Amino acid sequence: MSAEPRRVEHQQTDKGNVPVYTTAIVEQPWSSYSAEDHATWATLFRRQRELLKGRASREFIDNQERFGMSAEAIPRYEELNAVLAKATGWQLIGVEGLLPELDFFDHLANRRFPVTWWIRRPDQIDYIAEPDLFHDLFGHVPLLLNPVFADYMQAYGCGGVKAHGISAEALANLTRLYWYTVEFGLIREEGGLRIYGSGIVSSKGESIHCLDSAAPNRIGFDLLRIMRTRYRIDTYQKTYFVIDSFDQLMQATLPDFTPLYASLAAQGSIPAGDIIDGDDVVHRGTGEGWSSEGDV
Ligand code: PHE
Ligand code: FE
Repeated sequence: MSAEPRRVEHQQTDKGNVPVYTTAIVEQPWSSYSAEDHATWATLFRRQRELLKGRASREFIDNQERFGMSAEAIPRYEELNAVLAKATGWQLIGVEGLLPELDFFDHLANRRFPVTWWIRRPDQIDYIAEPDLFHDLFGHVPLLLNPVFADYMQAYGCGGVKAHGISAEALANLTRLYWYTVEFGLIREEGGLRIYGSGIVSSKGESIHCLDSAAPNRIGFDLLRIMRTRYRIDTYQKTYFVIDSFDQLMQATLPDFTPLYASLAAQGSIPAGDIIDGDDVVHRGTGEGWSSEGDV
């Protein structure tokens, strides 16, 4: 391992007991990545690219290629930023890891995407609880080249700043939307369902599970329904929500959420694996292997 990230403290959040890092923006220490770091990137890159053929959204694969990401070496933010600047005006900034919510929203609202500068250790290849460089760069960055998705991410950041000022419940509603779209979203494309969520594309196991397993529910996108739905942080999702297009996502989230938060406050949350009346069920999950505890 090259240098060590500076962890600040652990905090109990809606994503579990996670380290919270300094909010400082750091320069990517590219020349201090070790041969082992680059090898970890290469292993993960090759494995996921192979697995994602016919599984990931066309838009995800095409944009990853546009960036020129390859197994050869950990990409340099500088080079990715040159491509991004021309395409959608987004900018990658280096950070130590997960940021406090308001800092994160503020970056997104200003078209800055925080990317963890360090990569996981070899013994964490298959699973790591917190975002690292592979998750952030491989998983999140490609869709920032899509103009509609790029706008959605910024709008989400603005919405986050606003929700933060409304209530903890409003913030929880909004976080669920991010979870079920940006992190774990599926999209309908010619040929069938495809993955666009970063939490999925950066995970070997979940890339297979979300599409091939009979266990999870797959349900058509429904904004209010999603904002009520609890989720899983330490197992595969029990439910995936399917969008028809990024335009659909953008259109559905354009209205002011303030009155929505107010009406959601009167409704209960929905357990992660439940199907409810009115759901547009694409696939009803068998629930195989689910544990009854642990929705957040
Ligand atoms: N329209 C939302 C609001 O007023 C903001 C938002 C946009 C939230 C896109 C999520 C995604 O709060
Ligand atoms: Fe993420």
